Parts: sequence; C-alpha cells; structure tokens
Amino acid sequence: MRVLLTGGTGYIGSNTAVALLEAGHQVLIVDNLANSNERTVQDIREITNKDVDFVLGDITQPAVIDRILETENAEAVVHFAALKAVGESVEKPLAYYRNNLDGLLTMLESMERHGIHNFIFSSSATVYGGENPVPLTEDMPAGTCANPYGWTKLMAEQILRDAAAANPKMSVVLLRYFNPVGGHRSGKLGERPNGVPNNLMPYIVQTAAGIRERLSVFGGDYPTPDGTGVRDYVHVSDLAEGHVAALEYCVAHHGVETVNLGTGCGNSVLELIHTFETVNGVSVPYQITDRRKGDVAVCWADVEKAGRLLGWQAKRSLKDMCRDSWRCRG
Ligand code: NAD
Ligand code: WQD
Repeated sequence: MRVLLTGGTGYIGSNTAVALLEAGHQVLIVDNLANSNERTVQDIREITNKDVDFVLGDITQPAVIDRILETENAEAVVHFAALKAVGESVEKPLAYYRNNLDGLLTMLESMERHGIHNFIFSSSATVYGGENPVPLTEDMPAGTCANPYGWTKLMAEQILRDAAAANPKMSVVLLRYFNPVGGHRSGKLGERPNGVPNNLMPYIVQTAAGIRERLSVFGGDYPTPDGTGVRDYVHVSDLAEGHVAALEYCVAHHGVETVNLGTGCGNSVLELIHTFETVNGVSVPYQITDRRKGDVAVCWADVEKAGRLLGWQAKRSLKDMCRDSWRCRG
C-alpha cells in the first residue's frame, strides 16, 4: 500500500517509515524540516535498501497537500507532523494551535477532496491528564491538559471523531503514545532535540556524553517505590511496528478507534538512570531536585486493546531502549 507520512523525517515518523518499508509498503514523506533533517531520507534508504519519496513542504498549506494527494495515489495517511515541545507550547501557544490544528484540518479537507479515508493520528498519553488511576485505559475520561501542546492533541482527537461521525467512509485510528525512547539499532534515527532536552532520555544521553554536567531528577518524594516519577517507556521501533499494525486495521475497518501504545509497565527515573549506566558502562551524574510543575507521579498504559485490536505488543526491554538511545547519540 502507498502511504503518506506527514512529519516522516522526524523521530517517530522516520522509524515508522523503516517499519512500513520493511513490511512491504511504499512510503511518501512530506515534512517542512522544522524539527528534522533531510539527511534522514537517505538514512531510511540505507537502512531498508528501499526507495522512499520525499516532498519538502508545509502541511498547513492546502496547495502542497492537494498536489501530493492528486498525483501520488496514497491510500492512507499517517499524521506525525506537529510541534511537540511542551515548554515552548506554553510560551508560544498560538504557534502550536496554528501548526498542529491547522495542519490537521488542512490534511482532512484535502483528503476529503481526494476521496482518501484512512487516517492514523499521533496522539499522546498526555490527554489522560493526572486524574485517572493507572493503568490508563482508552475509555477513561480525558483529563485537563497541563499545557497547550497537550490541548492540541485533545482537540485534534475531537476534530477527528467529529469528522468520522459525519463521513461513514472514514477510518481513523488515534494512537496514544506513552514515552517513546530508543532509536533504530543501526545507530541512526534517534531523537536529537535542538538545545537543552525537555525529555528524560535525551537528557540522560547528553549527560552521559558530557554535554550536560548533571541530570536533575524532578522530585524524590512521589508516592512511588523509590520516590521518583514512573512512566511507560516504549522503544520507538516497537512503536513503529504498532503503526504497521494500525494501518492494517485502519484500511480494513470504518469509524474511530483509540489505542494506547506502550509496554504496560512503569519504570522510575532512577531505574532508567541505573539501567542506562549498567547497559552502556557509563556514568550519569544526577541530583534530586524539586518536582517539575505539571508532572504526574505515575503514568502507564493498559495495553490489552492494542493486543486485541491490532495484534500488537511491545517486545523490546528497558535495556534495549537504553542501549539503542546511546547508540543513536550521533
Ligand atoms: P518530531 O519533531 O521528531 O517529528 C515531527 C515532524 O513534523 C518533524 O520532522 C517536523 O519537521 C515536522 N513538522 C512539524 N510541523 C510541520 C508542518 N507544518 N508541515 C510539515 N512538517 C511539519 O516529533 P516526534 O517525536 O517524531 O513526534 C511525532 C508525533 O508524535 C507528533 O505529532 C508528536 O506530537 C507525537 N508524540 C510524540 C511523543 C514523543 O515523546 N516523541 C509522544 C506522544 C506523541
Ligand atoms: C519523564 C520522567 C519527569 C526530565 C512528555 C510529554 C508528553 C509526551 C512524552 C508528547 C518524569 C522526569 C524528566 C529531566 C526528570 N510527549 N524527568 N528530569 O513528562 O512523561 O511526557 O513526553 O506527547 O506529552 O509531557 O516525559 O521525558 O519529560 O519525563 O527527572 O530532566 O522523567 O519528571 O517523571 P513526560 P519526560
């Protein structure tokens, strides 16, 4: 099947491109390179030994998307393109709402014009907010998001539900990712944030590499076994394979399904640090500091639905995640 990946040169999109190509699909990427590099296209080709088409373009521009959908025979869209830095979204909320929601609406309108009905959306566990008990199931009420980025995901989910309710031909899979980490085992296609990382794993990598002096562990007094925050870290290659399964489900059904993609297990900040040190034979200096505003104590997925609906489950261990994150340090 020919699949259009928006944001496909980004971290999760590029790893998904590899998984789709390896599963025999054809991949076309559109990306404006706002947070990625065109070199990634070559990396995908080298890893898979297969061709991938790339269009440099902004998905908020209808003419860009119309031209692609008119000429490329895409049967499905996997929509990764978005701005994703939580802190930046608080400083530039309008840029986040404009890019993430305008991009989505532009895609959906163009798809409607061209009779394309299969859509997979990158949502986030952040939509659960902090009020629900773990493990988080897809039918739990969405929470109050702590930042504009999170709200763009919640609003996007609502837009997609309304669009599908109005068009019975549409098939939408809302994938709620937990905490993606790791990178392709080749050492390519890792997460390379610009500037100071917001997320834990890239910060650990940069601290181990000597780029950052010390990691701040945000809070040592949570009601968790070691007092530090617990998350459901999931290897990006597992996540990528989850998209292949979601695509197969999407084209065979109609309507909307929401699916958690995680391992179903929680690990603490200290567990991640110590596993990283052991697996890679490096040291990660850290100090425990105050909690970070907006953080929840614990967050992990119920993954029963992903197994039942998509036949997918994460296979890679926390050790694999730590090893591949380090390999992909660039
Ligand atoms: P990323 O920043 O690496 O990839 C996003 C890609 O979209 C980038 O290559 C960027 O250049 C592109 N892009 C952004 N706006 C665009 C536009 N207007 N037109 C064309 N391209 C545009 O991020 P990622 O980590 O790969 O995340 C992919 C998706 O998954 C995003 O929607 C993100 O919100 C979501 N998500 C990510 C995480 C995470 O922790 N990484 C967790 C949950 C959900
Ligand atoms: C993980 C744990 C921190 C950095 C975020 C977004 C979410 C989703 C995934 C996109 C927490 C602790 C972190 C540090 C630390 N992204 N930490 N020191 O907050 O679970 O989720 O990324 O959709 O929307 O909010 O991930 O990696 O920032 O934090 O101690 O320097 O690591 O407190 O317990 P989070 P994270």
